[in-house]
Amino acid sequence: MSYEWQAPKEGEVRSPCPALNAMANHGYLPRDGKGITPKQLFEALQKTFNEDTLLAMFQVAGCFTLYGKWFAGKISLEDLHKHGNLEHDVSLCHVDSALGENWVVKKDLVDQLIANAIDGKIKSESLINTFRARYLDSKKNNPDFTFGRFQVQLASGEYSLFLNIIGANTNKEVDTRIAEMFFHEERLADEWTRPDSSVSLPTILGTNNEISKIMNEEIKKLTS
Ligand code: HEM
Repeated sequence: MSYEWQAPKEGEVRSPCPALNAMANHGYLPRDGKGITPKQLFEALQKTFNEDTLLAMFQVAGCFTLYGKWFAGKISLEDLHKHGNLEHDVSLCHVDSALGENWVVKKDLVDQLIANAIDGKIKSESLINTFRARYLDSKKNNPDFTFGRFQVQLASGEYSLFLNIIGANTNKEVDTRIAEMFFHEERLADEWTRPDSSVSLPTILGTNNEISKIMNEEIKKLTS
């Protein structure tokens, strides 16, 4: 079994999530992005990102429930394009669904994120600073703009996963080259290492909580 990175081929599908896409691009998930079973998703999250049992179960159960896929027994990365379940406005590297294809990575948005690096690293503050710019842009340009408390929780959860998993062995900071490859090519850089110790649900929720508080404060300032 090879876990070499390969760009998706014609007919293969990808999601708005850089981590799921990276798992498919490396072959931890089916490379075509289709017909993913709960077991395949659970095992891939553990093998690729060293999520502990509870965290991986939480994510698998959450997504199969939200998208109503238990009966079918499979989910496709394309199913995750649907706006309003997990997919939301103000993504870091994707346009809002009202403005285009929400699963296509936008290079200019990746560049904006990377430009917010601090001392060559993407840190929590880099994500918040990017969020601020993305929020203002969406509010101005998206006629269907929606970003309430639930979306704050989703976005801060994604930032928490990124910092705690991709930055697991580097103090919750991610080297810009590794971050650029993750968001732009949806690729795990050779110099990136899988978390040395397993990543738990309380860890993710703890950082999620810290970041969501800051995001709510930011939104208050931006809308007052
Ligand atoms: C079953 C597991 C997962 C599911 C179902 C899932 C689903 C999603 C979805 C639907 C989005 C799009 C949200 C939006 O509109 O911006 C997203 C974004 C994101 N996800 Fe995941 N995800 C999973 C696991 C992970 C993991 C393990 C990581 C980190 C290692 C991660 C990191 C991210 C990041 C950083 C974003 C934001 C992308 C952006 O703003 O452009 N996700 N995820």
